[in-house]
Amino acid sequence: MLGWFEGVQRDLPWRQTRDPWRILVSELMLQQTQVARVLPRYEAFLARWPTPEACAAAPVGEVVTAWAGLGYNRRAVNLHRCAVAVTRDHGGRLPSDLAGLLDLPGIGPYTARAVLAFAHEADGVGVLDTNAARVLARWAGRPLGRAEAQAAADDAVPTAEGWAWNQAMLDLGATVCRARSPRCDACPVEDACAWRAAGNPEPDPAIGSAGVSGGQSRFEGSDRQGRGRLVDALRRGPVSPDQVAAMAGWPDDPERAGRVATSLVTDGLAAVADDGSLTLPR
Ligand code: ADE
Repeated sequence: MLGWFEGVQRDLPWRQTRDPWRILVSELMLQQTQVARVLPRYEAFLARWPTPEACAAAPVGEVVTAWAGLGYNRRAVNLHRCAVAVTRDHGGRLPSDLAGLLDLPGIGPYTARAVLAFAHEADGVGVLDTNAARVLARWAGRPLGRAEAQAAADDAVPTAEGWAWNQAMLDLGATVCRARSPRCDACPVEDACAWRAAGNPEPDPAIGSAGVSGGQSRFEGSDRQGRGRLVDALRRGPVSPDQVAAMAGWPDDPERAGRVATSLVTDGLAAVADDGSLTLPR
């Protein structure tokens, strides 16, 4: 695995740093968005907000604006909340232990372990995203439960190689052990894979295994699409109540648009101004 990774690893900016904040920003951006889309946003974001304190000092609406093009805008709100908590409770430095990281808003098991593995080069910490979870289930030859998958991820990490191992797992899952048409012939650990040894029988053990996502749901025509359009409009300026339906892309369905607008306010992605118009939050 490690030799394979040496040869194929992509030169990505978040692999050149061990700064916890820079790692955190990269992992939140990468959680639901492809590397190619993240690359142009990443450096710009960090040039503007190089530390949690700098980010915490900005209005959350500006962070949402800088998130344009990445999708799943709630992550921008979460990142800002995390920056505020780190500044207030931790003197501006991210905690370096699992419990401290998990206590922060917007940080779940995946992100916390990614910070430990990629910023602190921690040992015995398996980063379990959908790619790594798929690899582990196939190696095991059967779907894994949540605790089993995390234990398998942690156990697989070779001593003193936590950083490279976890990066390699993410790359293996993304480029070789793909969800559809895996390239087993190009796999460096084909010999260790129970699913491969059995001849890749159906059903794929990754399906339904803990941490393996079923893929993103359809965007076209979804509420998420309307939410995205409304946030895009808010990035340009306030939206008055009579424009909400048009800006959401549903001019004939003000009820649906209103529901989606309410959900944005609930999620901290929008606020209602004194004159009743919708704005980005301060
Ligand atoms: N996806 C999530 N984390 C990643 C990383 N560190 N490198 C490449 N892709 C990723």
